[in-house]
Amino acid sequence: GIQANVPGVHPAWLPPDAFRAAGTRRVLVLADDSEVAGTVRAEVADACERHGGAVVAPGAAGDLVLALSTAGDLPPAVQASRGQEPGPEGFVLGRRDGVTVVLADHPAGLLYGWFEVVRRGAAAFGEDWPAEVHRPALRRRMLDHWDNIDVHPVMGQVERGYSGGSIFWRDGVPHEDLTRVRAYGRLLAATGVNAVAINNVNVHATEARLLTDRLAEVAAIAAELRPYGIRVHLSVNFASPIALGGLDSADPLDEGVRAWWARTTERVYETIPDFGGYVVKADSEGQPGPFAYGRSHADGANMLADALAPHGGVVHWRAFVYDHRQDWRDRSTDRARAAHDHFAPLDGLFRDNAILQVKYGPMDFQPREPISPVIAAMPATRLAVELQVTQEYTGQQRHVCYLGPMWSEVLGFRFWGPGERTVAEVAARGGLVAVSNVGDDPYWTGHPLAQANLYAFGRLAWAPDLDPAAILDEWIGLTFPGGDDLVRGTLHEIMDGSWATYERYTAPLGVGFMVRPGHHYGPDVDGYEYTPWGTYHFADRDGVGVDRTRATGTGYTGQYPAPWSEVYESRSECPDELLLFFHHVPYQHVLQSGTTVIQHIYDTHFAGAEEAAGMRLAWEKLAGSVDPALYARVRERLDEQVRCAEEWRDQVNTYFLRKSGVPDAHGRRIY
Ligand code: GCU
Repeated sequence: GIQANVPGVHPAWLPPDAFRAAGTRRVLVLADDSEVAGTVRAEVADACERHGGAVVAPGAAGDLVLALSTAGDLPPAVQASRGQEPGPEGFVLGRRDGVTVVLADHPAGLLYGWFEVVRRGAAAFGEDWPAEVHRPALRRRMLDHWDNIDVHPVMGQVERGYSGGSIFWRDGVPHEDLTRVRAYGRLLAATGVNAVAINNVNVHATEARLLTDRLAEVAAIAAELRPYGIRVHLSVNFASPIALGGLDSADPLDEGVRAWWARTTERVYETIPDFGGYVVKADSEGQPGPFAYGRSHADGANMLADALAPHGGVVHWRAFVYDHRQDWRDRSTDRARAAHDHFAPLDGLFRDNAILQVKYGPMDFQPREPISPVIAAMPATRLAVELQVTQEYTGQQRHVCYLGPMWSEVLGFRFWGPGERTVAEVAARGGLVAVSNVGDDPYWTGHPLAQANLYAFGRLAWAPDLDPAAILDEWIGLTFPGGDDLVRGTLHEIMDGSWATYERYTAPLGVGFMVRPGHHYGPDVDGYEYTPWGTYHFADRDGVGVDRTRATGTGYTGQYPAPWSEVYESRSECPDELLLFFHHVPYQHVLQSGTTVIQHIYDTHFAGAEEAAGMRLAWEKLAGSVDPALYARVRERLDEQVRCAEEWRDQVNTYFLRKSGVPDAHGRRIY
């Protein structure tokens, strides 16, 4: 059966009311006996039972028909939608003669079509409209959990998790009751997500064993997600042949090592026939990898790809490889260059089932980064772009920061200029991946409004062209179905510009970091300045920013194709929001906006903190209009956001006043 709502857990964007329009119809399902088709039947039955509709038998007239093209005896309304080839996950949706029709070639398409009907609500049953084809733009739409089985003394159970413990494990074993996992799968399916990697990319000793003697736990989780069309992936440790197999090497070209992976992978598929594949963080931040054996990352990835290929699996090999033991005194090493330096020369050497997973920016999930040049540099490689739904650097689910607009910009970016391919198009054969923000918190995401990020991720992975503001409204409509104009308007007002607000009160003009080392929350302007991590801003009494030009800097701008290689190289053409990422400039440098850098810093920090205060005021208008517990949770977090934004404002402004000696043109208080 379906796991509609888990007692004590917020229903997120699938509250019973969201099914009212579909659940009051007469619904005909023409499908096969697959597990996913069974889910569609159960979904329909549940919605109809709740809202007074009816499941009708073949031959009867329905106002909603969900049909597989392979099912026999399709009614005339469905026949009219044929011939459009929706593909393995897509569907055709139309309304003709007062019948809404979803037609799919495969059960997953039927499931996605059902949720599209739910999303549209009453609008799915209005006037007729011609059949439209819906297909996902990106092949794999995947969430990576950074969950551990054990609780780490500093990181907690979920690395960079801000929503309590793991939904998969507790006290060293899987949750006794996994219905929550099924409910999670249902929420994800409603957004179009089709893959979940269940454990941390930093694979510690206990979690490494999920691949072997703890595989039953992976199978149990897979069984909960399978009915919703989601395949399970596993992060594996590159040194597993040593740690788990008792070999003395993990050399990817060693026959014994290759045989170990082949055998181990075979056993995984015996247990989980639709297993998705592996995720690997190698030679990165202390994780083992092929460099130890003088082998390349293509050698490493291909070894695992070969083990997975006979079973239809893929390896997601992460490109997040850089030197985290840099010397800040050495200005010639540039962390931003690392992924391109390592991987671009390997283009064309990866197997077809090896997917290179590239963070959207060259550094690390900052609120603003240029798009990683690796994405443009590897036309012969399947690439997946990695985002962070968990808000490590964007307020840690204590701050409201709706990331839809950022991701939309990333996905729509055109490396080769106007009219050329977008990032989403480049990644179409690979996928879109994001680090999940979900934990065992009753609201799933700690901050109730952070649910919108999870929702927007799935929707953009399916359709990157969607307007993020419209996705936000869609989320608001589903999550607050009884909400009046005040509720809807206020939520929109608070959330839509919240990424821009967050950017204003944190590190200026794309320079990044300035967060407290370790946990990465709150301001510490010089926190990373003299550390080995490669994340510097180089502020001195004259100016600030990192010179990454070819002319005088690290040459990073040369990793971009034209026109961006030229645009970023040029101080006057480089977009303001990235200026300090690419250039070291004097405080009196005049931005394209007409303001000096120093005045921009002051202005944005005063504005950002004020906007945060405005969000809290706006939220107060909703007292009594939304669930009191949810109201209180958001209110408490907004208090913290306002406090923290003021702290950012004052530290950043004071820091730059002291460095530059330039007073605020408006004479505002700087400490
Ligand atoms: C960031 C994050 C780490 C994480 C790493 C990764 O650096 O702080 O916790 O392991 O990204 O993506 O691998």
